[in-house]
Amino acid sequence: MPNQDILDLQPTHIQELQNRYEQALAEHGYDSLLIASGAAPYRYRDDQTYVFQGFGPFLHWTGLAGQEHSWLLIRPGHKPVLWLYQPVDFWHANPALPEEPWQEVVEVRSRQQPGAPELDNPGRLAVIGDPLVLDGVPGEHNPAALVAAVEETRVHKTPYEIECLAHANRIALAGHNAARDAFLAGDSEFGINLAYQQATGQREAEAPYHSIIGLNEHAGTLHYQYYDVQPPRRPRSLLIDAGARYRGYCSDITRTTAGPGEPRFAALVHGLEKLQLRLCEMVAPGVDYLDIHRKAHQGIAALLSASGLVSGLSDETIVEQGISRAFFPHGIGHFLGIQVHDVAGKPTPPPEDAPFLRLTRTLEEGMVVTIEPGLYFIPSLLEPVLNGPQAKYLNRSLLDELQGCGGIRIEDNVAVTASGARNLTRETER
Ligand code: GLY
Ligand code: MN
Ligand code: MN
Repeated sequence: MPNQDILDLQPTHIQELQNRYEQALAEHGYDSLLIASGAAPYRYRDDQTYVFQGFGPFLHWTGLAGQEHSWLLIRPGHKPVLWLYQPVDFWHANPALPEEPWQEVVEVRSRQQPGAPELDNPGRLAVIGDPLVLDGVPGEHNPAALVAAVEETRVHKTPYEIECLAHANRIALAGHNAARDAFLAGDSEFGINLAYQQATGQREAEAPYHSIIGLNEHAGTLHYQYYDVQPPRRPRSLLIDAGARYRGYCSDITRTTAGPGEPRFAALVHGLEKLQLRLCEMVAPGVDYLDIHRKAHQGIAALLSASGLVSGLSDETIVEQGISRAFFPHGIGHFLGIQVHDVAGKPTPPPEDAPFLRLTRTLEEGMVVTIEPGLYFIPSLLEPVLNGPQAKYLNRSLLDELQGCGGIRIEDNVAVTASGARNLTRETER
């Protein structure tokens, strides 16, 4: 969908938020709500700040991800009022707001002071945002029940949000293609990161999270956070988990590529991808997300058997005895939206056998989730198995060989539709 078509959807999105917020305010007995965009705090004893990430509810309405010290007032029956912080400042730029359709349904006021605006007759007022910017602001700060209700308004994405997420996928996919090409051309983790940023046109500070780029055994560290400047002598594998933002909305995509001369690892990547696509097809209204997680374990057990990594045990036993968890220790995914791990996913805690699952809800139309199975060779998780009674079922020499490839993760972003699912990642992949 071209960008103008996406922008044209935003006023309807804002109207829907107005309805959802009016209901939340009425249910919790508030007359008005002030939302703070936030501000990057200074580092301790330093004149430099942390990287700014705007407060989710502020972005939900405005999409303005980089706007510090700004405030949004929501009142039933009134247009939202946005106070944009636009100081006269010769140190920093003050970019003009481009004219866009949403400004017809929001009153925008410019403001020189960073603090909260004074409000006329707010009635019972709630103020939500980072407590660091709420000092001295009148009203009830971050009342828990209202904050939970506001977070719930982010669970079912509007058509505008789905298109923003689809576009964030398109941006990131350009980066993933460039990253794979850079890897196959022999580039380092650092060089692959540069190729990714060049193709997405987004710097690290704008990205939804620090891009995870691991070559060889680094691919086996789930959130590997460094970039080697030198390429390895023998590039065996690339795992890249990287996203992009569009109007505040995140993509979160992982691809794994086997290096040349790695047929066994390549076969595992292919097997995991087939499983991942089957799991994506499970996404539909009424499906318990935990069932997708459990199906992933069954599929990984089958892959461990088929590849000869585990033998002599049924797939059920591989799961029951926790062997599949040694290879796939994280959850199958999470909600995705303005935050990469979007809010309100765990009204109930995950079960004991899936402690890292970030989403424990039954899927409904409008939700957007990631589906991200993995299969890793993580020494600290495999050692206890290799030193225990189950060691005889594991193929140690094959494990030793594959350990140098680190691991595999394949991650797509999937929207739940009325009849099933829309895979936002695959629809534009080359
Ligand atoms: N990029 C972090 C995750 O996949 O959840
Ligand atoms: Mn994810
Ligand atoms: Mn990811």
